[in-house]
Order: sequence, then C-alpha cells, then structure tokens
Amino acid sequence: MAIIYNTEHRTITLHTGRTTYQMQIDPNGHLLHLYYGARVPDTSLAYLYVLTDCGFSPNSYESRYRRDISLDILPQEYSSCNTGDYRLPALDLSADNGAWGTDLRYVSHDILPGKYHLPGLPASFGSESEAETLSVLLKDEATGTEVTLLYGVFEDADMITRAAMIRNAGSRTIRLEKASSLCLDVPFGQWDLLHFHGRHCMERMPERQRLIHGIQTVSSRRGASSHHQNPFVVLMDHAATETSGVCLGAMLAYSGSHRTDIELDQTGLVRIVSGINEDTFAWELAPGETFSAPEVLLCWTDQGLGDISHHYHRFLLNHMIRSKLVNRCPILINTWEAMMFDFTAERLMHFAQDAAELGIGMLVLDDGWFGNRNSDNSGLGDWTVNTSKLPGGLLEIANGVHALGMKFGLWIEPEMVNEDSDLYRAHPDWALSVPGRKPSMGRNQLVLDMGRCEVVDALFEMLSTLISQNGIDYIKWDMNRNMTDIYSHALPEERQPEASHRYILGVYDLMDRLTTAFPEVLFEGCAGGGGRFDAGMLYYTPQIWCSDDTDAIERLTIQMGTSVGYPIATVGAHVSICPNQQTGRTVPFGTRALTAMSGTFGYELDPAHLTEEEKSQVKGQIERFKKLRELIGTGRYHRLSDFNCEQDVVAWEFSKEDGSQALLNLVVTHPRANGHGSHVKLRGLCSDAVYRIAEAVFEGRQIVLESTSLSETLLEDRRFSGASLMQAGFTLPPLLGDYPSVQLLFERVDEVLECVR
Ligand code: GLA
Repeated sequence: MAIIYNTEHRTITLHTGRTTYQMQIDPNGHLLHLYYGARVPDTSLAYLYVLTDCGFSPNSYESRYRRDISLDILPQEYSSCNTGDYRLPALDLSADNGAWGTDLRYVSHDILPGKYHLPGLPASFGSESEAETLSVLLKDEATGTEVTLLYGVFEDADMITRAAMIRNAGSRTIRLEKASSLCLDVPFGQWDLLHFHGRHCMERMPERQRLIHGIQTVSSRRGASSHHQNPFVVLMDHAATETSGVCLGAMLAYSGSHRTDIELDQTGLVRIVSGINEDTFAWELAPGETFSAPEVLLCWTDQGLGDISHHYHRFLLNHMIRSKLVNRCPILINTWEAMMFDFTAERLMHFAQDAAELGIGMLVLDDGWFGNRNSDNSGLGDWTVNTSKLPGGLLEIANGVHALGMKFGLWIEPEMVNEDSDLYRAHPDWALSVPGRKPSMGRNQLVLDMGRCEVVDALFEMLSTLISQNGIDYIKWDMNRNMTDIYSHALPEERQPEASHRYILGVYDLMDRLTTAFPEVLFEGCAGGGGRFDAGMLYYTPQIWCSDDTDAIERLTIQMGTSVGYPIATVGAHVSICPNQQTGRTVPFGTRALTAMSGTFGYELDPAHLTEEEKSQVKGQIERFKKLRELIGTGRYHRLSDFNCEQDVVAWEFSKEDGSQALLNLVVTHPRANGHGSHVKLRGLCSDAVYRIAEAVFEGRQIVLESTSLSETLLEDRRFSGASLMQAGFTLPPLLGDYPSVQLLFERVDEVLECVR
C-alpha cells in the first residue's frame, strides 16, 4: 500500500519506492505538510516542528491562546489566503459580497486504486498496479467552497503528482482569482533554484542560482508555456551535482500562461506554488460547478540532477505520452529551410525522389501548401490546398511520396488566422481582439478564440477531412505567435479573464479529438520551434520541434537544457545546411548529424544541393541512427559535461539499463593547442564487466601518435573495465578543427579482465 492513514496521529503518508511524503490534519482541521524526502517509516514526523511564537504571525481563532500555532509559520498542503498565512496563497477567491480569501479545513479523504483523471486536461495515467490516488476534501465554510486535493502516487516510478479541483458547494456564485495546482512547503535545507529561461531560437537555457529571501517567479503571460520560461523548476541542494545530492523537481503539465513562485520565508522555509498564471486569469464558479487545476509532477532524489532527468524521462514516456508512436518517427526530411514558401508539385517530387534515394523515410511538406499562402501574410485558417502550387492536390503528392516508399507529413497551424483569409472574412469575431482597439499582430496573424466550441468544431471538421482524404501520416502542429488582446467575443464582460485558460482547454479538446480520431497519425508539436515544449503538450504530441535554431552548436545548449526535464525521444532535431540560416556558422556535417541524433533525427535541407560525399555520409548516418535509436530513445541519458555547455567540450552519453551498451557523444566547441585531449567519466556501466569500443565515428582532425588513425587505435582489441571507465574515465586525444566530434559505442563483452578480477 502506497498510501497510509494513521487514525491516531491523523497523518496521511504516501510512499514511493525511494521517497515518503507526509501530511497531517491538525486539531483545527488545517492540513499541514510534514515531509517529502527519502523513504522513512510512516510514523508521524510532526516532531520536526518545534512550535515558537514568531511574532506578528496571526493565530486561528481556535488557537487564540496558543501564540505558537500560526498558519504563517507551519508548513501547509494548500495555503489559504487572507486568514493568517502571509506567504504565497494557493487559492484566492472572492464571494459576491466582496469578501475575499479562504480558510480551508479538512472534511474527509479517500484512497483509491489507480490514477485520477482531470476532465479536459492532460494528466498522467497509471493502472491499478502502477498508481494509487489520494483525494483529500477541504472546505471553506464562509463561501461554501470545496477543494479536492489529488495526489497520484506512482510507487515504482518514484513520482507523486498533484492537482486540485475546486467546487462551489455554496448557493452564490464565487470568483476564483487564483487556483493553483501545487503548494509544496519545503521547511528545511539550503537551496538553489534551477530554471529554464530563453527566447525564440534559444529555448530552455538552464540557470542555477541561490534562493534569496522573498519571491522568485518563473512564469509566462504569453498564452503559451513559452520559449521564455519553461514550466519546470528544480530545487537543488547547494552541494548537489549531476550525480549526487538532493534535488526536488516540480513540472507543471500545462501549455498556457503559467506561474511558479518560489518563496523563501522568514523561517527559512521554501514554498513552491505552481499553476495557471493568475495575472491573466479569473474564473466564475456558479453553485454546483467545478474547476480543475492542471497537474504537477513531483520528483525527489538524493542522487543528483541526472537522476531527476532519468525519472522525468521515464515517467513522461510511460505515464504521460499517450501516443504509441513515440520514438517511432521515420527519419524525415522537412521542406521548410530548403524551400520556405517557394515550391511546385514538380519541385516537391524531385525533392522526394532525391530523399528516397538517400534512404529517408518521410517527406514533410511544411508551411505554404494551403490557401493563398505565398508568404506569412495570408492564408492561415484556409486549410485547403493551394491549387496554383499543387494543381493535382495534396493527394497527388501523398500518392507520389508513398509510391517512393516514404510516408507523407504535413504542417498546419490551426490556432491562427490571417486577416487575409477566407476564414477571417467569414468570421472576424472568431479572432481574439478588444472591441474598439486595433489588435497587435504577430507574424501578421491573429489568434483564434479556441475557447469557442464552434471554432474548435469547425477546425475539427476541416482538419479531419484534410487528414482522412489526403493520405497524411504525420502532422506538424505549429503555433507561431503569443497571445495579445485577450478578449473573447463570445464571453460576457465579467467572464473575460477566463478567455486565456478557455483557449488552452479548446486547444486540448481539438488535439484530443484529432489524436483520438487518427491514432496512427504521428503528431509533432511546435510553436516557432520550442515555444510550447511542456508535459501538457506531450500528452497529445509524442514529439516537439525543439527550436527554430538548427545550428548544431546552439542546439547543444538548447538540447541539454531541454534534457533536464524532457525525454530525448521527444526532441525534434534535424540536420540543416551550412552556413546555418540562423547563425551563419559552419559546422561539419558529421557533427551536425551527431547533434540531431540526440533527438528524433531528420533533415531540413535540399538533397539536390548535397555533394556526392555528403550523400554517402547521409546514407551512413541514417543506417547508424536506425541502429542506435532504441538506445538513444529508451536508454538512460547522462550529461557528462556542464549543462550550460561552457566547457571546451560538450559530452553526453546514453547507457542501456542493463549496462550492456553505452554511446558516448562528444563535441569539441573550443579546440586548444597543446592540450591533453578530452577526458570524460562514463556512467551507467556495470563496474565489474568488460567493455570494448564496437564503433567509432569521428569528425575533424585527430592527433595521434605513430600515424595510426584514431579509429584504428580505438577499435583495436582494447578492453576496459566498467569501473575504470566510470571511475578513472576515458581520454580522447585532442580533436582539432571547427567543432570536431566523436561518437563511440561501448559494448560489454563476455570476458574477464585480469584487472577486473
Ligand atoms: C515555425 C516553425 C518552423 C516552420 C515555420 C513555418 O517557425 O518552427 O519550423 O514550420 O514556422 O512557417
């Protein structure tokens, strides 16, 4: 049993394989948080809290003679507002008499087999043998508001999920001003905050800093989880590293405007409150109605950041991504960087023919195939083929591509509309815009009001016709601007603050309907690259285009930052031409491929422009990725160099769970004269096993003694013990030139080494 209620102490304890989480109902009915950390027995941990009068911290009415009992000091499971806890509230609401705040008291709880669902929202799933659910009912008597706190306990996966449902059980309408998913108090410890900031073409840059007193916020008000701050934070003990130390992750499965506040309070307690961003949110709740706040995935470890990544990777792959097509994307070629809007049926078919000859498995026709779309100024919304470019229609192209033995994929951007489109001319009120004000434009397009059922219905009709009638195997679902002028022409004035969240609910609804109707179609998410790379999206799309920056060296940092929370098999990554279109940088072809292989792997270039030498390299790369994709997509991922990629080399590794194989990847970003070469320590091997290097692929100039090539030297019959590779490490001779790289496949051999014995 993963969830245990102790009637004497009124504690509820959640156990996962390696962790314990405990809460307690105090004599006043407040639900206190007691502990989240390494697994301990389920005996009460209330002794941890030595009560003191902190001064200026109010006392609940029932405790008015106990000045040492205050909601402002004690750790809480779901903090109230305006009733004595001055720290971050989890829930704020106003009643129709103008009174605001909450005082939540315990009513009852339930322990249920399996994992709870959240209506209309993405949420992790687990069978009765994988997960248990705790639901705790709290109530605010003054307003009649009921809050059900939900906890999903995944014992084997070592994860705990949180969500909250808020029900108006009173007789008057209430207005939610803030409805968080998570409040987690961390009473003890010395913490750094790791978060992921960025911008377009520079997503998920990891930044680690000491927490200081006050509030640090990680948020987006953009209507998308955003390029700018990802809804994922990790508290790291000051001493924690990749391989050791306590880390606590909180990942919000939500794709809209989000906010995670981290507060270090007067006593040294850290409070994390996470959920929908209250800056662009309010919600009217009529009597009997329920509001669901999205899910947060919690993970605790004492084995460093690498272990946090490992847990999130596994969990997202097994319990969040519904599609069976994860890690199954054919090696694709995308038309965007090669052709932009400029193609004809003939050019496309040449492109497809060239790609097929190289062994590429899917052609993706990107932007420009629909409506009057010859630039990004028109056409969005009109999801029918542009017959002046493709007179025989899409089906003709799809048939041609299929006849070459390839799959056919298509780009769409359903949530948007250009003013210059038939859809906008027919339904101008379907776009978000404030009455009397010219809307702000982004890429000269407007945002559709996805909160309206008729908009979602119309899109579902258009898109399901498109997919079912044109032999589509894959869809790239883009979203190329952030929200402004948030005003729905379908909502009354008092409900306007609901528009932003209703939009996301509409997006989820459309994605749910389409992915359910077409389970064999692979959906890839995208938002100007990785502007909506979050666990919510992964529920519907098993992979997401990671960034519009395809420069392999920029991608090292972007993909490494992304890897902290998200599985490698979900990271859209392609080889593009040089000089790179975003940065102008030139990187060797092999290094570009090596970087893209740590993702879904594909190409974004015109094969007609490749040299014969490059063509043969492409064939080799495709063969190699096919052989390695299982290890890359399902193996354990290790960051061997620092996650900011500030060292001279960037190195990472994939190891098989059973230690039988490991793939070392290394890119020299800063070659040094007279250097000793690059030294790395491998991970995830069996200490007492013997390994050999089964494959070695180099790019760049190598310096080796005695004029043998490095590959020959390494592929000689040399043997290494797992312990040596992990403890003493492995040194590669200096690699020189512009961004040289190496990929080494270590394989366990059935031999015994003297040194191992
Ligand atoms: C976005 C995507 C690109 C491409 C263009 C097309 O920027 O991230 O990959 O699809 O849109 O307009």
